[in-house]
Amino acid sequence: MKKIVSGIRPTGSLHLGNYFGALQNFIRLQQLDDADCYFFVADYHSLTTHPHPDDIRGNVKKIIVDYLAAGLDPERVTLYVQSDVPEVIELYLFLNMNAYVGELERCASFKDKVRQNPNNVNAGLLTYPTLMAADILLHHADFVPVGKDQMTHLEMTRSFGNRFNRIYGVDYFKEPQAFNFNNEPIKIPGLNGSTKMGKSEGEGNAIFLDDEPAVLKKKVMRAVTDGGPTQPNQPKPQAIENLFQLMRVVSAPETLAFFEEKWNDMSIRYGDMKKQLAEDMETFVAPIRERIHQFESDDAYIDRVIRQGAEKSRVGARQTVQDVREIVGFRRMD
Ligand code: TRP
Repeated sequence: MKKIVSGIRPTGSLHLGNYFGALQNFIRLQQLDDADCYFFVADYHSLTTHPHPDDIRGNVKKIIVDYLAAGLDPERVTLYVQSDVPEVIELYLFLNMNAYVGELERCASFKDKVRQNPNNVNAGLLTYPTLMAADILLHHADFVPVGKDQMTHLEMTRSFGNRFNRIYGVDYFKEPQAFNFNNEPIKIPGLNGSTKMGKSEGEGNAIFLDDEPAVLKKKVMRAVTDGGPTQPNQPKPQAIENLFQLMRVVSAPETLAFFEEKWNDMSIRYGDMKKQLAEDMETFVAPIRERIHQFESDDAYIDRVIRQGAEKSRVGARQTVQDVREIVGFRRMD
């Protein structure tokens, strides 16, 4: 059995970029018989930005609902909320003792955050990589399905684990590797000409899994375009390439080929293309949205899923923390 671990920050509704970037990988992983998957909502991590308690509660539930609706099966994977497994904090403390402020300060994501929010440089932000390492090492993960932006964190996880082994003369933590089914992660661009679909990229840029049909259509119809091609077979500007890329993931190959041809012979009408794209997105999103609505109104079920996930996750988590306590020189408490 290979252990798979990944965390998702609770930032609100998931969009098509999240779906094709992460979720699709998770859903394929859960189908493998030799993969033992742990997927969790990283709510401790979310505290670095000081969210309101109501927002935390709502966003955590939202993510769980979206994941279930998209097809994650709590009988096949362990789906849990990070803060329901407080063992991770004890491991975080042990790892912090051997993480150096210098290396944490040099981490690119930390430097970005400092630049973006110079008046909220808290210690939690600095130690974000040790908490993430604790998430991963807690379950002795073999693979961590994450995007390119998390490679440095994963590198740091390996180095914290190896350092622990070296300091205590043990061979306890293994080296987790990044994982992706596709060699190159699928890039999902935004509708406003941006190369990335994202929550913070501005209004109308992202299609959320729970967007109502009219909202979805309006966003697609308003997508940024240009005056149209001026020469046959000309390279596409970014905003137009984005529409084609979106079509590549949600539409049939024939549909894509049809509009490619229209682009090349300059007879393309963006309105027609957008209408088709909106229809194909709607076909894709509709069943997910319906399940989102069902799960949203079933708090008892969501609660059961979360509790069951916490219980399953804590079995291994307790074991790891007790082992680490013993290695460090503390008393086992089990
Ligand atoms: N840092 C990840 C992100 O921003 C979320 C995360 C937290 C995570 N802990 C993790 C991902 C452990 C993989 C494994 O997306």
